[in-house]
Amino acid sequence: MQCLPESRKKQSEENCVVWSRGVYLNNETEQEMQFFIDTADLEEISAANELGVLDGVTTNPSLVAKIVRDPDHFTYADFKAHIAKICEIVDGPVSAEVTTLTADEMIAQGEELASIDENVVVKCPLTLDGLKAMRALSGNGIRVNATLVFSATQAILAAKAGASYVSPFVGRLDDISTEGMGLVRQIVTVYENYGYPTEVLVASIRHPQHVVEAALAGADVATIPYKVISQLAKHPLTDSGLERFMKDASIFGKE
Ligand code: G3P
Repeated sequence: MQCLPESRKKQSEENCVVWSRGVYLNNETEQEMQFFIDTADLEEISAANELGVLDGVTTNPSLVAKIVRDPDHFTYADFKAHIAKICEIVDGPVSAEVTTLTADEMIAQGEELASIDENVVVKCPLTLDGLKAMRALSGNGIRVNATLVFSATQAILAAKAGASYVSPFVGRLDDISTEGMGLVRQIVTVYENYGYPTEVLVASIRHPQHVVEAALAGADVATIPYKVISQLAKHPLTDSGLERFMKDASIFGKE
């Protein structure tokens, strides 16, 4: 059985409740935009978690490689232990990616990763073998994140394969002069058209404007590097306003 949040399940028309991108039109239920952190760095994950606005984590092999101090002695067991540590810090979905290429290998590895913690979501690449693995894993109640998604056709396939999340990589599309956020809007529309419960997880976010545009597009999740999470809070008028308030407050004196 697929583990999708109750709030994403389409209600029957008999109940007169119509789902529209996470919002029930009778206002019974609303779903907030989720913020995940896109890193394998435990310090960054802890720091973001302490802010109280973190809903989950996404990792990939490149992000894990970045935090490994001694690559010659980093084992697969170390990788799984690292994912377990992330799950101890954050009470929410933690994406861990398969590092195999055939469907059978991905299924076996996905089952192993999912056994680390109930919050582990298995990331599979959007290839033909990846689709077979997604179907098998999701059919066994394991949540899957379809990764390396660069087209609406790939996103439709991910939904049909039962993926819980689809990850369009907006920054990498922008890098090749293709509007990444245009793809997010397409996927949101297509999923709405058919009521697919797969959540749109905007990945490869590079700056705060990507987060704003993801929210405007109605994406379910933005996975954001720590640097960009901290940029979201910054505004020069907040800094100058606070400086002025603190200066003026100095007349209050001390107790
Ligand atoms: O979540 C996927 C993300 O880590 C890819 O980001 O910046 O390597 O394109 P980037």
